[in-house]
Amino acid sequence: MKLVLLGPPGAGKGTQATGIAEKYAIPHISTGDIFRYNIKNETELGREVKSYLDQGALVPDTLTVRIVKDRLNQADCANGFLLDGFPRTIAQAEALDESLSEQNETLDAVINIDVQKEVLITRLSGRRVCKDCGETYHAVNKPPKQEGVCDVCGGPVIHRADDTEDTVRNRISVYEEQTAPLIAYYEQKGLLFTVDGTEPVHVVQEKIFSALDKDAD
Ligand code: AP5
Ligand code: MG
Repeated sequence: MKLVLLGPPGAGKGTQATGIAEKYAIPHISTGDIFRYNIKNETELGREVKSYLDQGALVPDTLTVRIVKDRLNQADCANGFLLDGFPRTIAQAEALDESLSEQNETLDAVINIDVQKEVLITRLSGRRVCKDCGETYHAVNKPPKQEGVCDVCGGPVIHRADDTEDTVRNRISVYEEQTAPLIAYYEQKGLLFTVDGTEPVHVVQEKIFSALDKDAD
């Protein structure tokens, strides 16, 4: 399975990715997680991308595409992958198509998680994430069992640096301008499946599974 998860900031891409990656035994590749890991570890890449993430702006395409291509060349991607947060521009989508077609491959499906703007702002202001393993929580809807402590790994549960209201609004407008055109791009290719992301997490998950299973038949 070669899959892409598309959707605005806060749609639930990361939340749904865990279950999908597990079910189809494919690696979950989140460009946002890769960037945050490098920022946290103060690598050269981390220093290069920090200001873009802080502002909620996109990291330049050339750099992002290079990182993703390197990641897709790793052995664990041989049987497929789940991309979360990539592609985010038409140029990134074209680079991905080109790179796959060089190996006579294509994407199997693009899952578009649809959530309206007002809901996104509430979700992101309440979101909490584990600093160590990246597990996602919500202050009201999905708190960790013990406040501030990750259920999965025991790491510290924090508020993501780019989840302030101003940055969230900027991320949403960047999405509308640069990423939303990908909906039509993938629809034309017959790859798009749109799911209502305002339903409960398990309902969204079941709908994604049933669409992907139908696709595989
Ligand atoms: P990235 O990390 O990809 O962030 P994003 O796209 O803004 O998306 P989020 O991670 O904020 O949201 P999500 O859809 O994963 O939602 P989640 O599951 O957490 O990118 C960050 C930055 O990196 C970018 O701004 C950019 O600078 C850079 N970047 C990354 N990729 C790039 C690229 N390709 N090109 C250039 N730059 C790039 O859920 C959110 C909250 O909602 C959680 O609290 C969750 O518990 C809750 N929730 C989820 N589903 C439900 C539900 N069904 N019902 C109720 N609550 C729910
Ligand atoms: Mg995410």
